[in-house]
Amino acid sequence: MLPSLPMTSEFVAVILAAGQGTRMKSELPKVLHAVAGVPIYAHVTQAALAAGVAQVVLVVGHAREAVERDVASRFEGRVSTAVQEQQLGTGDAVRAGMPAPDFDGWVLVLCGDTPLVSAGLVAALMAEARASTGPLVMLTSTVEDPTGYGRIVRDGAGQVLAIREHKDASPEERSLREVNPAIYAMRASFLRGALGRLSTNNAQGEYYLTDVVAMAAAEGAVRTLDWPFADTQGVNDRAQLAACESLLRVRLANELARAGVTVRDPATTYLDLGVRVEADAVLEPNVHLRGKTVIESGARIETGAVLSDVHVKRGAHLKPYTVATRSVIGEQAQTGPFSHLRPDSVMESDSHIGNFVEMKKTHLGKGSKANHLAYLGDGEIGANVNIGAGTIFCNYDGFGKHVTTLEDDVFIGSDSQLVAPVRVGKGAYVGTGTTVTVNVPADALALSRTRQVNKEGYAERLRRRFKAIKEAAQKK
Ligand code: UD1
Ligand code: MG
Repeated sequence: MLPSLPMTSEFVAVILAAGQGTRMKSELPKVLHAVAGVPIYAHVTQAALAAGVAQVVLVVGHAREAVERDVASRFEGRVSTAVQEQQLGTGDAVRAGMPAPDFDGWVLVLCGDTPLVSAGLVAALMAEARASTGPLVMLTSTVEDPTGYGRIVRDGAGQVLAIREHKDASPEERSLREVNPAIYAMRASFLRGALGRLSTNNAQGEYYLTDVVAMAAAEGAVRTLDWPFADTQGVNDRAQLAACESLLRVRLANELARAGVTVRDPATTYLDLGVRVEADAVLEPNVHLRGKTVIESGARIETGAVLSDVHVKRGAHLKPYTVATRSVIGEQAQTGPFSHLRPDSVMESDSHIGNFVEMKKTHLGKGSKANHLAYLGDGEIGANVNIGAGTIFCNYDGFGKHVTTLEDDVFIGSDSQLVAPVRVGKGAYVGTGTTVTVNVPADALALSRTRQVNKEGYAERLRRRFKAIKEAAQKK
């Protein structure tokens, strides 16, 4: 991603996000559908901010409370909203979002449904506007299948004359493959006048923003900047949502790869936008890194990992199918295969958890290990503790949760239960198969199982008896 550029007040960005997005067939407004873990509109909004636009206005309407809540949660007050009461078309939406009458710079008009728009693209549009003497600069893209898009109509000399919406286009116009991605820079003074002259005399009975292009063409040349469709495509239905998501996935994975991360298979590396991965980390195929996950240098994340808001420290090794949420995995720590860290779990450096070990709100000290089949809930575990296979922290009594504390150097034998609240003192030893219900003093041995008896020769007597029973049953 481009580093943030210096802020400029020559530009205001108006981002249209009031439409319902009927073609999504969803209860959720279109612009709140997520791509790489972030709502569609937030990608383009972030791109405008990162390109240095000081004032960003999001036009909201359909399900506006939900959109406004999302805006408030993300941009630290740098984005304001304007309300379009009725969705009368894109031209009407821009009218709702126009800056104050004394603003005489450029209005960047962007759509909230184009998640692949980058800060680099917005910055290029701004540079093009600065170099232009005319009233309007716009991007265009050429596409295999232009269905649904507005077509760019040019004269014999190649000058833009107008944009024709798909529904209004003649068969010849429909064959044009140069389309309108709806990314424009317009001089505010021109735009104010042009918006006042829009009509609804078209196939959809809407105020089309695209009609201002013909007005600009009548005043002078419309300047266009050709841009790859891969970056400008919009989301109108869920097939396009998936297409954008897979493009962005590969883009993000390749960015990491170029920054020194080994990404074995970009197409199956699922990264949310807020994820950070340091150089020399290794991501194996089919890894999901969500939310604010951080992977430090030298960590290795094997296949099937699903990490949400997890901090993985240097050199940690997550073997296949580690699932973790809101947790910390320390330096050189190891998990998996098949480990589950539920929220608020912390593994200190060099600690290990193995297959079918679940942790919840548990702190596992430096060098401590639970290598097989265990439930560690609400635990405070010191350093160099060894937890045997089949150990269970009985943390819940049906009403409240209670803490199990294991001090440093404790050894818990296999198949033990610790009935919380309970504490095992430093260096104590819990024998295999023990149910610990009272605190164990430091360096003590706790045993609760019954004593073993060996009956010499008894196995042979048993075998003879069982054989006789089986033969009697077969004779009947
Ligand atoms: C629009 C363009 C079309 C272009 C395409 C690119 C017009 C008339 N057409 O068509 O030329 O090729 O985008 O994706 O501009 N919106 C509002 N209020 C409204 C209507 C729409 O805020 O009253 C918002 C929507 O939320 C959306 C954006 O404007 O974010 C575009 O609307 P959409 O209905 O998707 O327009 P398209 O039909 O795709
Ligand atoms: Mg659209």
